[in-house]
Amino acid sequence: MLNQIRSRLAEINCDVFISMHQTHRRYLTKFTGSAGLVWISHDANILITDFRYTEQAGEQSPDWEIILQQSTLEEAMAQLIEERRVRRVAFESEYITVNQLAEWQEKFEAVEFVPTKGLVAQLRRVKTSDEIEKIAAAAKIAVEALTALVPRIKPGMAEAELALELEYMMRRLGAKAVAFDPIVGSGPRGALPHAIPSDRKIQAGDFIVIDMGCVYQGYCSDLTRTFVVGRPEPKQLEIYNIVLEAQTAALNVLKPGLTGREVDSAARDVIRRAGYDRNFGHSLGHGVGLEIHEDPRLSQFNEEPLAPRMVVTVEPGIYLPGWGGVRIEDLVVVTESGCDILTELTKELTIIE
Ligand code: GLY
Ligand code: MN
Ligand code: MN
Repeated sequence: MLNQIRSRLAEINCDVFISMHQTHRRYLTKFTGSAGLVWISHDANILITDFRYTEQAGEQSPDWEIILQQSTLEEAMAQLIEERRVRRVAFESEYITVNQLAEWQEKFEAVEFVPTKGLVAQLRRVKTSDEIEKIAAAAKIAVEALTALVPRIKPGMAEAELALELEYMMRRLGAKAVAFDPIVGSGPRGALPHAIPSDRKIQAGDFIVIDMGCVYQGYCSDLTRTFVVGRPEPKQLEIYNIVLEAQTAALNVLKPGLTGREVDSAARDVIRRAGYDRNFGHSLGHGVGLEIHEDPRLSQFNEEPLAPRMVVTVEPGIYLPGWGGVRIEDLVVVTESGCDILTELTKELTIIE
């Protein structure tokens, strides 16, 4: 991956690429500390960090030259710029504030700061085997936690209680953290795609949308299932089956070479034909890795083709205000000819008694 950054540096005629973005720092160096600067020039990989982290950085990033930051990161960078007679510095324009750039420009008058966008995000789209293993482990924890929770859900329990149980179980199963606060939307609250778990108590006749995931060794998982409390009404079955059909259609077409838009359309067309396209107002899915939402996007706005080893969610939903909602979400890895599901868990409508 450093080779790809160096090729890009050559194309834009820069001496060095710098990053202060925490996730990118971890991705490039494996260093997990909270502060530091990555410096990739044509002949050096340097990680500058402070006293709290130099020993850790040495252990986690053996292929990197670790430089101890004596005063500020900026001072350490200034020293490198001077020593190495750097003239053009590529930086990540999405993550550097206007203020920071102005300060650099004032301080380093002879240096040109060249904005770059998406350099590391693009590399992060395609996962290594090691990354896929970690995401799969995070997915397994989410599946096990949800599987353990379902038989314990009873009418009268509050949404917030379910969310708390899930968090606790994922941690007990080895997760470091939740990937995001679990979403639990019951009854009419299921129409809120990102329902914040409330004190509302589960009741007979509810749909319950549960969306959850965890972080395992830095990598995230993402999983949604919708359950029904008691025997489903015909309308509930109708909506559930449309969403399931839409998800199945997308999973069946998903393969390398298709664009994010094409996969999104496979699911959206099913929902449109059923007359509910206005009730599916978000995109079909997103990449998952060190971050819960990353590239590539499965959306009408992504014309880039998918490639093997990308990890994405497939999560169509139908949301009917005042009535409720259904979402079914799996996490999948793109293979040479299709995709493998990492969140293996039944999608038959599960009835909670
Ligand atoms: N956690 C929100 C989502 O599924 O993307
Ligand atoms: Mn989710
Ligand atoms: Mn998701």
